[in-house]
Amino acid sequence: MTKVLIATDKPFAPAAVDSIRTVVEGAGYELVLLESYTDKADLLAAVADVDGMIIRSDKATREVIEAAKNLKVIVRAGAGYDNIDLEACTENGVVAMNTPGQNSNAVAELVFGMMVFLARNGFNGTSGFELRGKKIGIHAYGNVGRYVGGIAKGFGMEVYAFDPFVAKETIEADGVKVVDSVEELYSTCNYVSLHIPANDKTKKSINFDLLNRMPKGGVLVNTARKEVIDEEGLIKLMAARKDFAYISDIAPDCKDEIAAKFEGRFFFTPKKMGAQTAEANINAGIAGANQIVNCIEKGDETYRVNK
Ligand code: 3PG
Repeated sequence: MTKVLIATDKPFAPAAVDSIRTVVEGAGYELVLLESYTDKADLLAAVADVDGMIIRSDKATREVIEAAKNLKVIVRAGAGYDNIDLEACTENGVVAMNTPGQNSNAVAELVFGMMVFLARNGFNGTSGFELRGKKIGIHAYGNVGRYVGGIAKGFGMEVYAFDPFVAKETIEADGVKVVDSVEELYSTCNYVSLHIPANDKTKKSINFDLLNRMPKGGVLVNTARKEVIDEEGLIKLMAARKDFAYISDIAPDCKDEIAAKFEGRFFFTPKKMGAQTAEANINAGIAGANQIVNCIEKGDETYRVNK
């Protein structure tokens, strides 16, 4: 019998697992669940005989892919697929996919949750400030960036974006101002919200020089990936500029070093929370399950991300 594994170190909402089960069992397949595992050996054992696999930020390394002897398709229920060894997938005849757009609203809402939390001084009772009238820069205008723009307008913010891969007219059609360079985005905006993927071009690209362009009281919001931050540059900047704040949905490697030092202007969620809503889990989970069934049954490779 065809077997599909859900391997999630950070479990989906139970309703999402139920929805995935409906799709998988509806196709006549068996569903296997591995949640909250802490030992890589458990993952290696679980993948041994599965045909399809749904993961989140779980690391699908070469070792995992090679241990999954029957694997035909792996779906990252989410947007970023930097956790999958794409080369290993290709070499082993495995189709790797993501589910773009399915969890984007959840991530965008968290951007504003964190911004309000910071603006109101962590809800400590002291007087904070408002988002209305402030300038927000969206660094990469993909699915999440677009939702961020829409919500920002609801807050009465001035919205700017930079994305060399999206046509200027497309962004402007949403009522968002397009800047000509990444430097201009940071120089212009009180807030910058990161929505770039982690890849060879973007890793450590958010550095001291770029961040130092931000106006007084600048806030960097990261719901993307920790790898895109040059942490040495960030520490140097936060030490030099007492007005600058960093809020992140992904704990930086330097968190222990900076937590006490920059208290009140550095905040991170205990575990990546952006996509952690029932709606996002259900949307991405169902999409992933359907993609696996359609790939196995019909050879449908929509949303394939490896060559
Ligand atoms: C994504 O790339 O879709 C988000 O970072 C969500 O990641 P998660 O599924 O681990 O919460």
